[in-house]
Amino acid sequence: MCGIVAYIGKQAAYPVILKGLKRLEYRGYDSSGIALFGETVNTFKKKGRVAELEAWDEEIISTATVGIGHTRWATHGEPSDANAHPHTSNSGRLTLVHNGIIENYGSLKQELVQKGYTFKSETDTEVLVNFIEDIQINNNSSLEEAMRIALKRVVGAYVIIVMEEGFPNRLIAARKGSPLVIGVGEGEHFLASDASPIIEYTKKVIYVNDYELAIISPDEIILKNLGNEPITPYIQQLDMELAQIEKGGFDHFMLKEIFDQPGSLTDCLRGRLDMENLTLTLAGVEEHMSVFSQAKRIIIVACGTSWHAGLVAEYMIETLCRIPVEVEYASEFRYRNPVVGEGDVLIAISQSGETADTLVAIEKAKEAGAFIFGVVNAVGSSIARLSHSGAYTHAGPEIGVASTKAFTAQLTVLAMMAIKIGREKKTITEAEYNRYLAELALIPEKVKAVLETHESIKEVAKHYADARDFLFLGRGYNFPVALEGALKLKEISYIHAEGYPAAEMKHGPIALVDENLPVLFIATKDAYYEKIVSNIQEIKARKGMVIAVISEGDTQIRGMADHVMVVPEVDELLAPLISVIPTQILSYYIGVLRGLDVDKPRNLAKSVTVE
Ligand code: F6R
Repeated sequence: MCGIVAYIGKQAAYPVILKGLKRLEYRGYDSSGIALFGETVNTFKKKGRVAELEAWDEEIISTATVGIGHTRWATHGEPSDANAHPHTSNSGRLTLVHNGIIENYGSLKQELVQKGYTFKSETDTEVLVNFIEDIQINNNSSLEEAMRIALKRVVGAYVIIVMEEGFPNRLIAARKGSPLVIGVGEGEHFLASDASPIIEYTKKVIYVNDYELAIISPDEIILKNLGNEPITPYIQQLDMELAQIEKGGFDHFMLKEIFDQPGSLTDCLRGRLDMENLTLTLAGVEEHMSVFSQAKRIIIVACGTSWHAGLVAEYMIETLCRIPVEVEYASEFRYRNPVVGEGDVLIAISQSGETADTLVAIEKAKEAGAFIFGVVNAVGSSIARLSHSGAYTHAGPEIGVASTKAFTAQLTVLAMMAIKIGREKKTITEAEYNRYLAELALIPEKVKAVLETHESIKEVAKHYADARDFLFLGRGYNFPVALEGALKLKEISYIHAEGYPAAEMKHGPIALVDENLPVLFIATKDAYYEKIVSNIQEIKARKGMVIAVISEGDTQIRGMADHVMVVPEVDELLAPLISVIPTQILSYYIGVLRGLDVDKPRNLAKSVTVE
């Protein structure tokens, strides 16, 4: 949540920062602002989208070569010009942008108020900038020293970047819990919450770690820890192309990312699935195979869509590996004093690799002695680095706020893990192993086949765009798909939607059914098919409208449902990878038909870096 960008170097900072903020808008988009160094520091900030900053027509935007910018997802204080970042200290000496939450800002604010400080905003950030200033004044210390002292007293998560009057050639950044990447150029440096604002200028990057301070000038980056000890920066090469973060002719990132899936799944399988030799290579699992094969149980922690991927993995791992699996919301796990320790494997699933609750859940399990395995999309992200081992999903950058291609890539990695561990444990036969590999190899083509039906799904969307509520039902492997379908619809279209295991319907939700309630069944051919048919009949008997995701050649449900979305047949283990695609497309078109901004739904942010 919240995106920050900064530039220091030789070109005009404003266009670099403005473009960077637009790329980071997925992290928050209720207000934004930029501060530039001219003779003195000038700040322009506005409620609304980043495009509002284009109204800044002062001369400074073409001349300043140093600046900081921010796009906000409100935590403390409503979206407004005053609450937008950057924030400036009472003396006007320090200007700061912040991503994260300062949890003890209330007590710090009280202290400062007693000393006579005044505040223009309701934010924790304005407290922080004044807290640093106060330390600087009282201790007569440098900004760097004051930041070190202040950050030791601060509770919470942050990335901050600070500019100081009188030091036009220096930015100081610090991080704990929220992400920060530094792009290394020739005589210029770029700072951002992720690499997307940096990629078109340089591929050399440094990921700043927790409790590190970066002192940055056009020609130098000095990294130190909070104890003032120098740290040698580790420069990495970005494995990302500009085209991956642009819309490529699609109306929305969400649609592009849905259509990316045959390619992203191929990338996910590349170098891992070898059909010639019938091998599956997952280095992160192989290197720790004994940990997995001897695991007493596996705990999966994640949030949102990634949690749904975890639920599918529970079915996969228990079926193929006979290891007990628990799937937990990271936000609950971290606070509920869980029984976890040596012998447990904790799999953390995250697209961004920065979700605050998932990060803390990992820390907690790690401290208790569990082995941590990260299934992460964002390379070099905090969760990837905190894990003992892991497997990247290689879905490429996902910019639309609703997760689509990241979900299917997560499922693919988790399926590969289950197949690999199952073979090692001999809980699946060689014949089953070979069959699963063959099925996996066909997945990208099958996804492509579903995408080719998108026009007919658009027609289905037209019938339901005005619905007020929706029910999604599925069984077995398709139950988590029902949850995911409901989540996608509500976040994109703001239609109230609930997902349930189809058999649970009779324990409550059936009371909702009448002629106005669309009920979407994930009803592909699997072991539960006949049961699902009965559930559909029960809905039809109560005049509910039925939409069904069905397998090719299924005439029975086609004859019962009001509308169908057809997918190729696939082994039930991998069914979610295929059956989720029509629900993604349906949500997309319903959101578009309702005139909504599907890439940036209200109140949401792509990367939830606050708890
Ligand atoms: C829904 C969605 C969210 C994320 C959740 C976890 O479309 O995108 O529910 O899945 O915020 O995010 P990650 O996977 O980045 O940890």
